Amino acid sequence: MVGDFPANARLLLVGEAPGAQEDLVGRPFVGKAGLLLDALLAEAQVDRASTAVANVLKCRPPGNRAPTRAEAARCSGWLDQQLALLDPWLVVTLGGTALAWALGHGVRLRDARGRIHDWRGRQLLVTYHPSAAIRFGPAGEPMAALRADLRRVGELLCAS
Ligand code: URA
Repeated sequence: MVGDFPANARLLLVGEAPGAQEDLVGRPFVGKAGLLLDALLAEAQVDRASTAVANVLKCRPPGNRAPTRAEAARCSGWLDQQLALLDPWLVVTLGGTALAWALGHGVRLRDARGRIHDWRGRQLLVTYHPSAAIRFGPAGEPMAALRADLRRVGELLCAS
């Protein structure tokens, strides 16, 4: 799976790996996590149709398990090239695998989120994966943080 790459997208969202639904359809974030992501983007007035979406891994790990570091490292060159070709103004990483791709393995999500990073000549915002928001439920910290972070994305895009 390649990803969604609308022309002139200013925003790139980076997830972990396609799930079962994504494998079937050949597009990222079309399953349960994607439905939540779409809803939160709409709430934040971020136009999904002009947003690029890619994953660190281009294939679903067997049994939908978490990808190993070696698998992520083997795939990350493709994402680096997608980033260079797309040249987005703002990158948002969703969850730990995408965070590790952007900032390395030593960085904790709760330490990195909540601010805009000056990263590879562009802006980077780090947030939770929608699957974590689903797992911890509507009253959980990941849902509140993801919602707030995507609202910030909407404001940033609007102001730029
Ligand atoms: N989770 C991801 O990280 N990416 C997808 O495309 C779907 C679910």
